[in-house]
Amino acid sequence: MNKISPTLSDLESMARGAGEILRQGYGQRHDIDFKGSINPVTEIDERSEEYLLATIQKKFPGQRVVAEETGGLPGDGQQVWYVDPLDGTVNYVHHIPIFSVSLAYEDEGELKLGVVYDPMRDECFSAQRSRGAWLNGEQIKVTATQELADSLFVTGFPYDTWENPNNNLNYFGRFLLRSQGVRRLGSAALDLCYVAAGRFDGYWEIRLQPYDVAAGGLIVQEAGGLVTNIEAGDDFISVPQSIVAANPGLHARILEVLQAD
Ligand code: IPD
Ligand code: CA
Ligand code: CA
Repeated sequence: MNKISPTLSDLESMARGAGEILRQGYGQRHDIDFKGSINPVTEIDERSEEYLLATIQKKFPGQRVVAEETGGLPGDGQQVWYVDPLDGTVNYVHHIPIFSVSLAYEDEGELKLGVVYDPMRDECFSAQRSRGAWLNGEQIKVTATQELADSLFVTGFPYDTWENPNNNLNYFGRFLLRSQGVRRLGSAALDLCYVAAGRFDGYWEIRLQPYDVAAGGLIVQEAGGLVTNIEAGDDFISVPQSIVAANPGLHARILEVLQAD
């Protein structure tokens, strides 16, 4: 059977379609359910995911999808999609305009395409393996900052912070005392893209899901950055998940701080 593979413009048009759903629902009152004590989901997350899954199923039938709200779709091969229909739901329900749609495509175990779309700023971050990374079609690059003391970082915290003492507060404190500052924007996909675009120097986080980091991770790599887990391994997707992203020189310094006793 001939393999049908998506193009980067397929992913861009899907991310823009889902982004339009988020934009239209933004600022309204939502039906909010809680998946955990501090982990909300709205009808807009579900509507966006429904649109994305239906589009993938129609254009690329039989391909596996890993998606946040429904779990996704079964597949019969090595082609896998990672779908976060709304990354930044806490911001969204509080009417804070920092959130995104994150879509990635993997073939035979390698991430090939990634798109993260911010509908409030009309910023579309994208990457294709070995071809580069772009923001609205313009090539992007990570910073060249080498010193922690010159760096601005971004991170996030897991949804089980109340229950799990391994909650990133220790790492947060270490970087706060060694850098220009640490931000918490609330969308892991955008955090990664902001590193790729040179807005932040580096990013780390723990216990995320594949659909949070797959697209953004590829975008940082293609913007010249290094992306690993906290143990310096290449796998930033599988459990026990963790991720560190920065230019290669600074990345080594971030790892030293994370790995110190
Ligand atoms: C969350 C965001 C946040 C990160 C959380 C994620 P969601 O995704 O990416 O920045 O710190 O851990 O789960 O739930 O808004 O899709
Ligand atoms: Ca997410
Ligand atoms: Ca989400």
